[in-house]
Parts: sequence; structure tokens; C-alpha cells
Amino acid sequence: IRLAVLFGGRSGEHEVSCQSAASMLVSLDRDRYDVLPVRIGRDGVWASVAAMPDLTSTEEVLSWQQNGFPETRGTTPAASILATAVELMSCDVVFPALHGLCGEDGAVQAMLEGFEIPYVGNGIAASALSVDKEYTKKIAAGAGLAVADGVVLRRGQDDLAPADRDRLGLPVFVKPAREGSSIGVSKVEDWAELPQALDRARKSDEKVLVEAAVPGREIDIGVLERPDGAVEVSPPMEILPSTEHTFFDYEAKYTDSTTLFDVPAKLDPASTQAIGQDALHLFRELGCSGLLRVDFFLRPDGTRVVNEVNTFPGFTSVSQYPRMWQAAGLPYGDLLDVLVETALA
Ligand code: DAL
Ligand code: MG
Repeated sequence: IRLAVLFGGRSGEHEVSCQSAASMLVSLDRDRYDVLPVRIGRDGVWASVAAMPDLTSTEEVLSWQQNGFPETRGTTPAASILATAVELMSCDVVFPALHGLCGEDGAVQAMLEGFEIPYVGNGIAASALSVDKEYTKKIAAGAGLAVADGVVLRRGQDDLAPADRDRLGLPVFVKPAREGSSIGVSKVEDWAELPQALDRARKSDEKVLVEAAVPGREIDIGVLERPDGAVEVSPPMEILPSTEHTFFDYEAKYTDSTTLFDVPAKLDPASTQAIGQDALHLFRELGCSGLLRVDFFLRPDGTRVVNEVNTFPGFTSVSQYPRMWQAAGLPYGDLLDVLVETALA
């Protein structure tokens, strides 16, 4: 199978995508896959090498990702995409291992639809809706699932109405609507901090969500579509960031090895089942295909709140989504095989 792996990208999660792809590129079975690696720079310029070199560790891959691609200076994104598209046309399937805007938001997926190349994971609409926390919440709420109370601040809106402040209370979380890995997210404990938090969020997106904090446990769950169309859920995982972090922020996600992932999460069977059913429901309502990670808060009274979803969740071998499937008895390499087979089915 000739498989193109797209990684990097223009979003704030460029680095995270390189890490996800590094794990994938060392794990893909070379007897099975002829891999075309495609690196998308932060400037949007695409570059490929004809064949994946034989590298055996993610460290080697990460360094090769930085240095092993042809010099692309002087090339525009459009020209580089057109040049790479010719190579993509020779592939059976594309794996967009991209997080965030211009990758996990339907843009690349739309291009691949145009080229009529099968690709792994979610389509245009599911990606575009899921990358945007405002729309994800609207669809979840419309499907009868609880979401955090919040206010959307659009371009030109820089403050909350007094009634909204009173209703949400403190603390609030201020988040860019379309960003990942907690980039641009602040926990605001005093309304005086709101302008600064807004500025921070707006570095990622003009549209910002101000959300009431949801007290409770943070539980993730994975959804996976099999080649025959059956959709399954993984065991849930509890995220336990160390107490140095006030929430599961970028540092806790990627540099703090003391963050604990407890899988299967220690939940009563009824909560486990309910979270799985909610996740499946949301997968269908968002029109997802291939995979989805759904992140919940579980309140002390046992009720669930959908926090957000990821149509291409972090994918290093120690990231939540692959770890949850490992706990279900599906090793990392086999998970990649399922995703590719489903895309080709
Ligand atoms: N957006 C990051 C990669 C995640 O949710 O895992
Ligand atoms: Mg996310």
C-alpha cells in the first residue's frame, strides 16, 4: 500500500503533529506500506521525499523531519502543493497526521476530496465542526449532551455582559474557538485578568469562548470505526495532571512526565457505559468517520459534560488515544492498520 503521511502544518500544533507522525513513521509496517512522507512547514510549504529512510527511533525521525527534506525556500505554498499533489496521486491513501487549523479542520480533507484520493479519518464537515469548540458544543447540546455554560466573544467583542459574569462565576476558562493542545487557553480567577486572557486566546483565533469551570474528573474516550463500518469505543482514561498545573495545559500535556493517564479509568460500570454511549452518539451527530477522541468532565454527582473532541487526537505511542486502544488490546501498529483499512474500505 502506497501511503502518504502528512505532518507538521501551519497551526500552533506543528510540533505536536511532528511528534505524532514520528511515532507513526517508525511503527508503520514496511513490508506492508510504501511510505511517502510529506512535511508541511509552518509557512505552509509542502515538501516530500520519495521514500521513507530506515530510521528506528522517534528521535531519529524527529531530527530527520527537521533536516532531511529538500530546501523549499522561494517556493510558495500553492506551487509546493501542486508539485506534491502529483506524488500524492500515486498513493493509495493519505494519512493527514495534522493537528489544528489547515489540517484537522477540513481544509486538507477538501483538497484530498478534490484529488479523489482516499484519506484516513474524518471528512470535511466533521473536521470543520469538531475543530471549532462553539459548533462542537452546539451539536453536542442539540444531541442532548451537557456542555459547559459559556459565552462566545466574536470579533469586536471584548467583554462579557454583567449578567454573563454573574451567571458563569469564577474561575472561567478563556479559549480560542479553533486551536488545540490548550494553546492560548487561560484559567481566569479574577475578572481583571480577562483582557489579558482574551489577547492570549486571540493570538490563535478571533473567536473566543469564555466558559464556566466544570468541577470534576477529566475523562477521555476513543471512538474507532472498523473497516466493516462497526464503530467501537475504547476503555475510558482519566487524566491526572500533577498539582503544579492548574489545568491540563500545554506543558502538562507534553513536557511534564508526572501527568498520569489512568486507563481504564476507575469508574463505576454505569459511568463507563454512559460515557461510551455519549461518545458514540456524538461521533454520529458530528458525522465522523475513522476516529474521534471525546473529552468529558465527570461531575461529582456522576453527570457528564462534553468538553471537546479531537478528530485527529495526539498520536504518539504514549498519547491518550493510542494508549486507550492499547488498553483495549489493540497495539499501536495494529491501530494504524485499522485506520488505513477503514479509509480504503
Ligand atoms: N490536539 C491535541 C493533539 C490532542 O487533543 O491530543
Ligand atoms: Mg483538542
